[in-house]
Amino acid sequence: MAVFWKAMAGGLLLTLSLTLLGWGVEGQGNRQGKKEVSGGATVYLGQDRDIWRPMMYTTVNLSEIRSIKSSFQLRTFDPEGAIFYGDTKNGQDWFVLSLMDGIPLMQISREDILVSVAGGPKLNDGKWHTLEVSHQEKFVVLEVDGSNRLEVGMQSKQTQEILVGELRLAVGGILIDKEKMIVQFQPQMDGCVREGSWLNLSIPWEADVEELWPCYQNIQPGSYFAGTGFAIFNTSVFPIEADHVVKTELWGDFSKMDGTILSIKAPGQEIIFALVANNNTKEVTLTFGEEKLSMNDTFKRLVITFETDKLQVFQDEDESKTTKLSIAGSHPGYLTPWRGGRLAFGGLLGKGEDDVGSQFLTGCLEKIQVQGKDVDLDLAVKHMSISSHSCPA
Ligand SMILES: *[C@@H]1O[C@H](CO)[C@@H](O)[C@H](O)[C@H]1NC(C)=O
Ligand SMILES: *[C@@H]1O[C@H](CO)[C@@H](O)[C@H](O)[C@H]1NC(C)=O
Ligand SMILES: *[C@@H]1O[C@H](CO)[C@@H](O)[C@H](O)[C@H]1NC(C)=O
Ligand SMILES: *[C@@H]1O[C@H](CO)[C@@H](O)[C@H](O)[C@H]1NC(C)=O
Ligand SMILES: *[C@@H]1O[C@H](CO)[C@@H](O)[C@H](O)[C@H]1NC(C)=O
Repeated sequence: MAVFWKAMAGGLLLTLSLTLLGWGVEGQGNRQGKKEVSGGATVYLGQDRDIWRPMMYTTVNLSEIRSIKSSFQLRTFDPEGAIFYGDTKNGQDWFVLSLMDGIPLMQISREDILVSVAGGPKLNDGKWHTLEVSHQEKFVVLEVDGSNRLEVGMQSKQTQEILVGELRLAVGGILIDKEKMIVQFQPQMDGCVREGSWLNLSIPWEADVEELWPCYQNIQPGSYFAGTGFAIFNTSVFPIEADHVVKTELWGDFSKMDGTILSIKAPGQEIIFALVANNNTKEVTLTFGEEKLSMNDTFKRLVITFETDKLQVFQDEDESKTTKLSIAGSHPGYLTPWRGGRLAFGGLLGKGEDDVGSQFLTGCLEKIQVQGKDVDLDLAVKHMSISSHSCPA
């Protein structure tokens, strides 16, 4: 197990207390407009909200805590995101569990000391994993699926204070300023948590939303578009390399898609490139300006290369054997929209400069690559209905 340490504040050691597994704040009652949920509820962490805001949280009096363990199950294909948070002293001491590159990452702050530790197996394989966080004397221990222990040991030279006050617990977000963490990460998590047992407490939690979105029974990797919104990037995030080619690759069952898969707009111009699947005609149509190309929708992979004087389309795995479709010559600048333009997955960009879209996609793009790199829709300006890392199976 790869374990690394970062200890700040000149090697001061500290005793971790129970407080790290929780938090402490205003004993909020059941405020209006908040939904009460059980700590064991199944919660989809990707639900729309302020990205750092927890999906649910609770507060407990420290004097009521008898157990040192919190356990729950997690399922995700997302490599990065916030999972579980706890604090005391109104956020002065805190604990954050997240994923980075699919690997669990714990960050702990107590007094003037910050610790981060990452390690264990990759968890973003779409299977349910059981995670258990516990405090055992001088150690905080994370256990994955009953083994794979990740331990943080800390010892303080100071006398341990007696803890009073409250402990706050949160799932799917944090309650402190993100700048306080040593390791910064993207908080949005396209994942599900269920069967939570939090310090053996049976108190209700509060959800920060009116309705909790359900988790799909079964999932597969991909980005799922529900037909109600799209994801927008500035094309500047996909740099054009020296060979002056932009290669985009899309994987999925195109015969099960309906709506605009990809659209690109040059700055100050009307929509210039669009790739649209039509579930009625069973065709996928590519347009670039006035030019148009229609294909049967029976393929599983589509490669589109943009070069200054040509645009080429390949279907399926073997690029040499498939019919190479190309539009060439009549348009001077196939690369133009890639220079300072805007690109959208799952919808048609509007004509104006605002980001009003239309003809939204229903379906699953199993994988998206631009210039050979996976595109992470969590980095786009995206509609809440899109799940970036999973599709219903
Ligand atoms: C927490 O416990 C303390 C001491 O037992 C008590 O004075 C206080 O009222 C409790 N707070 C809540 C919110 O129950
Ligand atoms: C957890 O709580 C239940 C009932 O609330 C109790 O029977 C059980 O002993 C507790 N377990 C621990 C480890 O405190
Ligand atoms: C995209 O570009 C616009 C202006 O062209 C800018 O306001 C916006 O912040 C950019 N977005 C990203 C994600 O870079
Ligand atoms: C495609 O059409 C079939 C048959 O009309 C329908 O059952 C299916 O839901 C449609 N799929 C999409 C993504 O619109
Ligand atoms: C598309 O499919 C239809 C019927 O399966 C076939 O007749 C037609 O030739 C195909 N078109 C192309 C471009 O492959």
